[in-house]
Amino acid sequence: MAFRIFLSPPNLFGNERKYVDDAFDSNWIAPYGPHLKGFEEETAQYVGVESALACSSGTAAIHLALHWFGVGPGDYVFCSDFTFAGSCNPILYLGATPVFIDSEPFTWNMSSVALEKAFRWAEKEGKLPKAIIIVDLYGESADWDRLLPICRKYGVPVIEDAAEALGATYKGRKCGSFGDVGILSFNGNKIITTSGGGMVLSNNMEALARMRFLSTQAREPVVWYEHKEYGYNYRMSNVSAAIGRGQLETLAKKLLIRRAIHDRYARELADLPLRIKQEYRPGANYWLTCLSIEDETMSPIKLVSILQNAGIESRPVWKPMHMQPVFQSCKAFSHHDRHMEDETIFNHAICLPSGDGMSREEQDLVVEVLYSAFDGEKHYGEQSRKSIF
Ligand SMILES: Cc1ncc(COP(=O)(O)O)c(C=O)c1O
Repeated sequence: MAFRIFLSPPNLFGNERKYVDDAFDSNWIAPYGPHLKGFEEETAQYVGVESALACSSGTAAIHLALHWFGVGPGDYVFCSDFTFAGSCNPILYLGATPVFIDSEPFTWNMSSVALEKAFRWAEKEGKLPKAIIIVDLYGESADWDRLLPICRKYGVPVIEDAAEALGATYKGRKCGSFGDVGILSFNGNKIITTSGGGMVLSNNMEALARMRFLSTQAREPVVWYEHKEYGYNYRMSNVSAAIGRGQLETLAKKLLIRRAIHDRYARELADLPLRIKQEYRPGANYWLTCLSIEDETMSPIKLVSILQNAGIESRPVWKPMHMQPVFQSCKAFSHHDRHMEDETIFNHAICLPSGDGMSREEQDLVVEVLYSAFDGEKHYGEQSRKSIF
């Protein structure tokens, strides 16, 4: 069945078209131009870092960051286990070995307990990781006050993967500004999109200059094409950046709408055996509302398929990296003594449609279908459908 309601589709309602038209009218189509510079400056200012480098994807941004920290063949890189593969695939591009770190219960972000275990193991091995990638998962910040001191103690630099967390905060400070380098993603399902794209964020201008150089084929600054090392074609185009600028202007509104959708789910689903993730740490951007099923007769796959039959797209949460065939041989450190917390999360949780273009009627339908899935009843009348949040 075709979906009527998508998980997190793009929603463009600001100046995006105007800025793209401007790129066309001024013939700044490829590759650099004023929108690219503007998008970088405005995003850096929004997040609260010195500067930014717009890239073709979030994955490319992580690849560049790993490069900057000198990751190469034979090195270890620690990484959140409960994430999308884009977080850790670049470790393999560089011939290094990922070591996965489990989640803490409730927020599902990296566990400081598991991280300590991994560092103690690496120390015994006599080989500390070259870098550590910490994810702000599903738009909710990692526990930086716990995690950063551990990384500092061992002197290992941090890449903050804030791909899902633009606009989220931790104790008043924006996600993307906690790592030595932060990254964002602007792919089609993120809170703001450039159709596809990403960004490196940092206060370290030397790091950004080096990554900028690598992202443009490592071309030496001379008139002819001169290359002393190889690079990548990882820059964002001026047209994509024009979309991004328009999207960034609407971010405050998107945050309010996504939060309202989350709050409504939390209110309306309170009678069902479901527990909502974002209730545990303030400052989320509510990119996706995620919930754990607390009913052993219902599985995530079953619930996703019930919603799908009603034309609603939902998703099981990320399948942990240590469970992926491609990362089978990699080590993983657990939060608990005997089991990985994120396996439990994976076996119980799903993401609900959370797009900021969702109508109230669409939310009604999601809630009604969830009630029927647990043999309950909820019917919203016409009146509800006419009102706004
Ligand atoms: C946590 C996380 N890291 C990295 C990425 C990779 O970003 P991109 O798809 O822009 O390459 C994504 C999203 O796709 C993500 O959700």
